Amino acid sequence: MLFKGGTVYTPEGARHADVLVADGVITRVEPGLEPSGRVVDARGLYVLPGGVDVHVHSRDPGFPEKEDFASLTEAAAAGGVTVVVDMPNTVPAVDSAGVLEAKAALARSKARVDFGLWGLIRSSSTAQDLEEMAAAGAVGFKAYLAYSFSLSRKQVLYSPGVDDPDLEAPADYGTLARLAPAVARLGLPLAIHAEDPTVLAAFQRPLLTYGDLLESRPPEAEAVALSAAAAVAREAGVHLHVAHLSSALGLQTAEDAMRVGTELTLETCPQFLLLSADDFDRVGSAMKMLPPIRTAADRAALVDGLRRGVISIVSTDHAPHTDEEKSRSFAEAPAGSPGVQTLYLSCLQLAKDMGDVWLAPRWVSEAPARLVGLEQSKGAIAPGYDADIALVDPKGTTTVAAHEMRSRQRHSVMAGRRFDFAIREVFLRGELVGATHGRMVRPALVFG
Ligand code: DOR
Ligand code: ZN
Repeated sequence: MLFKGGTVYTPEGARHADVLVADGVITRVEPGLEPSGRVVDARGLYVLPGGVDVHVHSRDPGFPEKEDFASLTEAAAAGGVTVVVDMPNTVPAVDSAGVLEAKAALARSKARVDFGLWGLIRSSSTAQDLEEMAAAGAVGFKAYLAYSFSLSRKQVLYSPGVDDPDLEAPADYGTLARLAPAVARLGLPLAIHAEDPTVLAAFQRPLLTYGDLLESRPPEAEAVALSAAAAVAREAGVHLHVAHLSSALGLQTAEDAMRVGTELTLETCPQFLLLSADDFDRVGSAMKMLPPIRTAADRAALVDGLRRGVISIVSTDHAPHTDEEKSRSFAEAPAGSPGVQTLYLSCLQLAKDMGDVWLAPRWVSEAPARLVGLEQSKGAIAPGYDADIALVDPKGTTTVAAHEMRSRQRHSVMAGRRFDFAIREVFLRGELVGATHGRMVRPALVFG
């Protein structure tokens, strides 16, 4: 199979080349290759590595009315994302190898694109739990620093712990310090939801307006959590990954930690780069998420961090709740929104507006693939890599319409937005997406 005549984004930069594929794997990337089988006409198109979204919430198992692996991966495929990495806050939460294996089997039966799974760190987790999850294929481990765990429901709860015997205390910095050496030994990343519970407690209030949401989740919560976790990570020599970075203060704190040698990756999301609190009147509760979409100044700082390469990953925090739930009053609407389908388009637009469209595949594919240990198979158009390819038309346009979302939910914070690109065709391991099942991806260097 040959992708002929396109502009290919390769690890060495963009070039006019043909891409030869055999058995789902890229074998050659050169101009003037002769076809011997099927030819895909890529003239006038960008040939990009499929997106790797390292932050999605499939809701599967747990909340099929919100999403499942089928609807999640259809949305991903429609947006040029060929690997999704699912967060562990499904129900039962992924806190052991057994739960991870059951979730993997479920995902295999439904997924249209490849998928990876994060494991959960609970305050009661042991090093052995993590070792077993790593052996079962976890890409890394996530700690939710401000969220307790319901023992009866086996669920991470998006409310700080109260005095309830059913609620296990959130993982805290002590948990991280205790388990970081084990994570470092496994060679996997330690990811955090960076909100400090004591800061949140000090600012807790009823959420009647968007302003209340911002005040209840100040940037200090992000910065404090990030700085404490960075100290722990540096001491243990573990790779710290900061999910959904949202604030200028968080960015500055992360940069301070990097300057003293902390191994740290920053992920932010399209909604933090393209929207600010000023958009709330137009967008409404679809915009309610945690951490929140903050001020225009925060947004500008994040865009600048991305431009400077300090923030290397853009993933979505695709977190669907039902259209009905999201249409409740602001106080009642749950936090989180779908986003995987508009990830690549958002980033292409942002990169184009910055003056270098080829930054997009780095943020959306190359850097996230490296984070989750897939740097030998995903994230690049080069010999030896899976032929996960998004064909993008730089002369097309896409106006985001909520009813065209393939997620089970039809709302989008990007609704109405126009992008100067259109995704034409998406291939997974050399096959048109949909023609083949997704497989589970595992980090190449476990125990390495
Ligand atoms: O807004 C959010 N929703 N933030 C999170 O961190 C989790 C997510 C969810 O799972 O709904
Ligand atoms: Zn999330």
